[in-house]
Amino acid sequence: MAQRVLASTVSVMLLLAAITSGEHHMKWKVEKRQGGSTSVPLLITNNCAETIYPGILTQGGTGPADSGFKLSPGANHSLMVSTDWQGRVWGRTNCSFDDSGHFSGSGRACTTGDCGPVVACTGTGELPATLAEFTLSGANGQSYYDLSMVDGYNLPMAIELIAHSMSNVDDIPPNQSNPSCVASVGNYAGPSFNPYASGSKTFLGTNDSFQLPFLSASSDKISNWCPWDLQVSPPTSPGDGVYPYPDGNVQRPAFDPCFSACAKYNEPAYCCTGKYGPSKCQANYFSKAAKAVCPDAYSFAYDDADSTFAVPKGAGFNVVLCPGGASTTILATARNSSQVQHSGTHAIGASYNAFAKGLALTDGMAMKAVLAVTLLVVLVT
Ligand SMILES: *[C@@H]1O[C@H](CO)[C@@H](O)[C@H](O)[C@H]1NC(C)=O
Ligand SMILES: *[C@@H]1O[C@H](CO)[C@@H](O)[C@H](O)[C@H]1NC(C)=O
Ligand SMILES: *[C@@H]1O[C@H](CO)[C@@H](O)[C@H](O)[C@H]1NC(C)=O
Ligand SMILES: *[C@@H]1O[C@H](CO)[C@@H](O)[C@H](O)[C@H]1NC(C)=O
Ligand SMILES: *[C@@H]1O[C@H](CO)[C@@H](O)[C@H](O)[C@H]1NC(C)=O
Repeated sequence: MAQRVLASTVSVMLLLAAITSGEHHMKWKVEKRQGGSTSVPLLITNNCAETIYPGILTQGGTGPADSGFKLSPGANHSLMVSTDWQGRVWGRTNCSFDDSGHFSGSGRACTTGDCGPVVACTGTGELPATLAEFTLSGANGQSYYDLSMVDGYNLPMAIELIAHSMSNVDDIPPNQSNPSCVASVGNYAGPSFNPYASGSKTFLGTNDSFQLPFLSASSDKISNWCPWDLQVSPPTSPGDGVYPYPDGNVQRPAFDPCFSACAKYNEPAYCCTGKYGPSKCQANYFSKAAKAVCPDAYSFAYDDADSTFAVPKGAGFNVVLCPGGASTTILATARNSSQVQHSGTHAIGASYNAFAKGLALTDGMAMKAVLAVTLLVVLVT
């Protein structure tokens, strides 16, 4: 576990290092926050059909007053964290706390994300769990955030930027700042999801003037993406006892939490540890499957460029559990269009290739750093 937390932290540091190195070559639009407050809102919203017990781990700065609590369907909980807070949020499912918050059974208090027999978590949760990760005071006056499947997946999750009366954050198109990962078929609206076509015409902080780009995948794909051996509770299959199990036509449960390959096997090649550092660690069979259903989420430790969001420091965030709809494809969409529209990409790319050589990164990694920077430019200009 410690290794995995480390792997994901190292990757964030790598990205921050990359961004810092680029600062001489780029002009950043970083403005002072007008209000000057030392804390920002962290809202947690439960749109799941069941009660969820969110857990919050603080890794730096001052965390929220509550590190774990009960959240009924449709409810939200409003917290504050320091502007330099670093930490993560996840959801615990199927918990058996009584009304006074006690767990008296044996075994786990919650089926996934469990952090022990306490409502207020005092450490990390058990894998697998989808994570919302935050480094609010990163390089260049930016807050960095992402959705992560590096530690596996249990619940659909989205992050919505809260401008918190910062004028330079207000200017950010909401369809570029609010990523969502919906990899549970019960929460998936289907391949033709379009919240803007009718009804309220708003979704996850966006409206029809700033439409989020969505992944269009068949419901079967959303049902069956988790590699068979990584399911937490694989359904009984006709080939039971025979390895490999036939994984083709077996109906999977609607709630089908999925270990990452690293979480399940703890192999250096899967966890990007040991000799599998930044230049050697490749996407594995889990991360490829995860990326295909949640393109805006981290899928393995060195996936930064395709999964990290950055905005001027001082904004707040709403972590939405079970956002519904469909996964977003913000980064791929922004990257595709910025390659066409921004002539600056090549200049940035040149400086990054030089930087990458210093760190002995592969061309692929250098390319990813370029793309991350391209996206940052899109967000802050
Ligand atoms: C949070 O819950 C309150 C009370 O139900 C509601 O008024 C508010 O709109 C919710 N906020 C969000 C962002 O959903
Ligand atoms: C466990 O929690 C998930 C997510 O909230 C839910 O879909 C599932 O029905 C729950 N399972 C049981 C046995 O309560
Ligand atoms: C749509 O969203 C944008 C950006 O948040 C906002 O400026 C605009 O007022 C919204 N339009 C409507 C009709 O609400
Ligand atoms: C956000 O909306 C604007 C205005 O419609 C559009 O030009 C842009 O491509 C959208 N961004 C993404 C990432 O889809
Ligand atoms: C981005 O471009 C690639 C290559 O042209 C294409 O395969 C992919 O579907 C595009 N993705 C999005 C989200 O537009």
